[in-house]
Amino acid sequence: MADPFYGTQEHKELFCSMFVETHVPFKVSDIRWPELEPAALARLRALPIWTEAVNTELETGLKVRSLGEVEPDPLMAEAIRLNGYEEQRHYELLLGLTKAYGIPVEMRPVPPAVRKPLWEFMRVGYAECFDSFFAFGLFRFAKESGFFPLALVELFEPVMQEEARHILFFANWKAYRRQRTPAWARPAHTFEDGLAASIQALNRLKMAVDVGSSDVDENFMMTAHESFGDISPRQFVETCLSESDRRMSAYDRRLARPRLAPTAARFLLRFLKDPAKTPA
Ligand SMILES: [Fe+2]
Ligand SMILES: [Fe+2]
Repeated sequence: MADPFYGTQEHKELFCSMFVETHVPFKVSDIRWPELEPAALARLRALPIWTEAVNTELETGLKVRSLGEVEPDPLMAEAIRLNGYEEQRHYELLLGLTKAYGIPVEMRPVPPAVRKPLWEFMRVGYAECFDSFFAFGLFRFAKESGFFPLALVELFEPVMQEEARHILFFANWKAYRRQRTPAWARPAHTFEDGLAASIQALNRLKMAVDVGSSDVDENFMMTAHESFGDISPRQFVETCLSESDRRMSAYDRRLARPRLAPTAARFLLRFLKDPAKTPA
């Protein structure tokens, strides 16, 4: 049973104003990239994520902004356009980083104009729900282990929190739309929603399998393993969950929370043994 608060005018005002009011203004052109020790630079360069990350942020920005341009509700449009602006800024930030540290990036062709903004926003939203959930955990380990130099951790902390805001906004945008959909149209709405979520879940699974089978990434896995120390899959998933809760705890309790990735993670935990409790 959905919370009766969802779908109300007050709900819309709350999640849109949360988004607009917590926006942090900064310009990528003002960033002075810190000089890195050779070992830290090598670790950064070895990360197999740059091409995918730069392209994804660019494409996400285009898709999110396209919905902002056609959304008829002024309050919602403002928040969605701001979301798109932040994604574009993530792209510029990552591009700036790769240039500053001499990391090669292969740009994909500029995607064609978005034809179905609503559908693309849904797909992007689900993709971000998965990506951000795992990024929260990885970022925590990278920070604690010193894998990421402190100066970069400080630069990227606001980006992590921006992603938390994006998925929080998405969860509420979804809950709001669902409650506003007339009963007769709900099955179609649920189907479309489930389809967008499933496509993105499969996409992420495929990416994980691809990463696991690539030669280049074997190198990365070795360095990451050495730098992060011994982390069991269970510890990793638990950290993703606690970081996700921590990042979400800053916002109004009446807002809906992203549920898909945390629910999948909790399910996964049932099968992941705690190494401390495993008999020798
Ligand atoms: Fe982003
Ligand atoms: Fe985002």
